[in-house]
Amino acid sequence: MDTNTLSHNLIMTGQACFTPNYQPQGIVLERGLGAQVWDLEGRAYIDFGAGIAVSALGHQDPDLVAALQAQLNKLWHTSNLYYTEPAIRLAAELVQASFAERVFFCNSGAEANEAAIKLARRYASQYLAPQQRQIVTFVGGFHGRTLATVTATAQPKYHSGFEPLPDGFRYCEFNDFAAAERAIDGQTCAVLVEPIQGEGGIIPTQPGFLQHLRVCCDRVGALLMVDEIQSGMGRTGRLFAHEWESGLTPDVMSLAKGLGSGLPIGATLVGPKAAEILALGSHGSTFGGNPLACAVARVVLRKVNDPHMLQHIGYQGQQLRQALEAMNAELGVFQTIRGQGLMLGAQLAEAYQGQIARLLNCCRDQGVLVLQAGTDVLRLLPPLTINSTELQQGIHCLDQALRVFVTEC
Ligand SMILES: Cc1ncc(COP(=O)(O)O)c(C=O)c1O
Repeated sequence: MDTNTLSHNLIMTGQACFTPNYQPQGIVLERGLGAQVWDLEGRAYIDFGAGIAVSALGHQDPDLVAALQAQLNKLWHTSNLYYTEPAIRLAAELVQASFAERVFFCNSGAEANEAAIKLARRYASQYLAPQQRQIVTFVGGFHGRTLATVTATAQPKYHSGFEPLPDGFRYCEFNDFAAAERAIDGQTCAVLVEPIQGEGGIIPTQPGFLQHLRVCCDRVGALLMVDEIQSGMGRTGRLFAHEWESGLTPDVMSLAKGLGSGLPIGATLVGPKAAEILALGSHGSTFGGNPLACAVARVVLRKVNDPHMLQHIGYQGQQLRQALEAMNAELGVFQTIRGQGLMLGAQLAEAYQGQIARLLNCCRDQGVLVLQAGTDVLRLLPPLTINSTELQQGIHCLDQALRVFVTEC
């Protein structure tokens, strides 16, 4: 990178001042429009990452801008000591759009899962036997970085150095029907599962697995909690990914990321069985239900929960997947391409394993921003609103990047 640029100087300052827990790409993004973003030097990139499944409606969606501006000029914050209209309306709309009866608002995915975990324990303390306090989660899953949610995340690399971890979590092999039946027993109060593992490598649940978990939970009276923080809000072509499993009704669902399309918001949705568990004083969050975030999330929900939009997501996902398959037929870089809608993952072929960081750099240099998942998976999560021109441009950049990648390997 040119060391005389504003970007370079800013990056140096960032590297000196931030805690060193991240390693961002060496660009400073300044603005965005639709599915495109620009860095400080004016270089354009197609955004195939959407800020990790967050910018659901892309950048500067005019309806989101209008909703935010209208709320900016009215009221920013009240705390939960008072009612505000955006939070009330959003809660009612989420209830209307899902199995849920009640909603708890917070600010992030980890916080939404933390509330789900606390709710499960409180449910157990009211309704289940004293030994029934364990929460079953799945190997390769990801649920957040707070101490409880990172413990729910059954991946040792996230635990290292943070011990002692909270008690009461049990890990089970993902998509293993028999193992789940054994793990969900007289000690289980809840199961927490992603319908498609995101951070773990875009690994969908096998057909019938969520239903199987439902049956196992019902057998012992445990709650079925789905983490739709990455897979929800239309990402897979249904409003919530668990809806692909017909007739499935979870007890709890956590949302965040795409719900605010860039404004921080999380939500824990609770079905009838546990709707009264978070009783007065039992849990809270100062910023939860913030009117700015809720005003924006209402627009996101309205625009995503529309049959045309969901169809668009399915169609664009198919286009992207076919393009990946065509590139792979020629270049042989991937061993599997998986996922649903606009939540796609391509696992590097054995010959390229350990090279994912280099592939991400090639993509950036060719003008497309992509993500990693697991250890060797290229993850694509474009804005749900991406149009065909933007999609084709991103595909073209990706194609160029893969060619550079294989040539340099
Ligand atoms: C499935 C899932 N759950 C929880 C989280 C944590 O969300 P946050 O980073 O907003 O705390 C993530 C974030 O990647 C996620 O993908």
